[in-house]
Amino acid sequence: MKKVRKAIIPAAGYGTRFLPATKAMPKEMIPIVDKPTIQFIVEEAIASGIEDILIITGKLKRPIEDHFDSNPELEASLRKKGKEELLELVEETTGLNLYFVRQPYPLGLGHAVLQAKAFVGDEPFVVMLGDDIMADEVPLTKQLIEGYERTHASNIAVMRVPHEETSNYGIIDPEAEVEEGLYNVRKFVEKPNPEDAPSDLAIIGRYLLVPEIFDILEKIEPGVGGEIQLTDAIDVLNKTQRVFAKEFKGERYDVGDKFGFLKTTIQYGLKHPQVKDDLKQYILDLSKELETGAIENSMEPEVHELEDNKENDE
Ligand code: UTP
Repeated sequence: MKKVRKAIIPAAGYGTRFLPATKAMPKEMIPIVDKPTIQFIVEEAIASGIEDILIITGKLKRPIEDHFDSNPELEASLRKKGKEELLELVEETTGLNLYFVRQPYPLGLGHAVLQAKAFVGDEPFVVMLGDDIMADEVPLTKQLIEGYERTHASNIAVMRVPHEETSNYGIIDPEAEVEEGLYNVRKFVEKPNPEDAPSDLAIIGRYLLVPEIFDILEKIEPGVGGEIQLTDAIDVLNKTQRVFAKEFKGERYDVGDKFGFLKTTIQYGLKHPQVKDDLKQYILDLSKELETGAIENSMEPEVHELEDNKENDE
């Protein structure tokens, strides 16, 4: 059995849910307090024993490459000023085995994964989506790798979601729970309406896949939203060889969505040594203001319309 050594992080999407922030900046570089979301994913991969990581990028994604490159001027300046702790933070994201390939058009997650065919070769591999930050005693990617080592088959991470949200996810139709939290799957369905959803078990952003998936991705027709869907290819794969669904029981932070992003920022801030005490006090004060209604009368940050500054012929 081949060892799982490679991970793919697709990061070529437009990130439309974060416009206008993502008009010229990759969504993956938006920080949770002080760390870009993609760095959490790279850290999970390394903590899971992954040796080589391929990031699928596209237009306007150069800051991701720069983030994982050295910055000699900055390093020299921090060294000169004796700012050792900051220097350590800057240097820890360099020298990793990271590779980059471009997806010329964002034709869907399945199409993004297909760009990794040559990198992966004939080895099992993991796909990790930057929209989900996972927290558990054992990293989720490691749990999937352990699942592969026991089952010798693809293992896809799933989690229960509120039934009315099934149309945001790939959903599984579980056939049998073969061991606690591990399912045989009848069908994988991309973004079903709640009335058609076969369960509440949603595919979250971690997949351990066998390389046979690439032959399927090359042939598959566009699915929901006119995109080449990874879920559709997994459903085809499941017809010729077993694809297991592994239920994740840890914490999932959905940072691809505005509210999820805010919640994650608060949770992470409450653990961050530099800001946790001030943030806790701020939240306590704020909740008192919310209770008394005082917040309604407080000053908001000003929002001005850029439209006003545009030339107007009318
Ligand atoms: P999403 O649909 O969540 O990301 O795709 P998005 O398109 O960037 O964001 P929204 O929905 O418009 O706000 C899940 C992941 O797959 C990548 C995205 O970058 C994201 O990390 N992806 C998606 C690609 O790399 N290529 C694609 O063609 C589509």
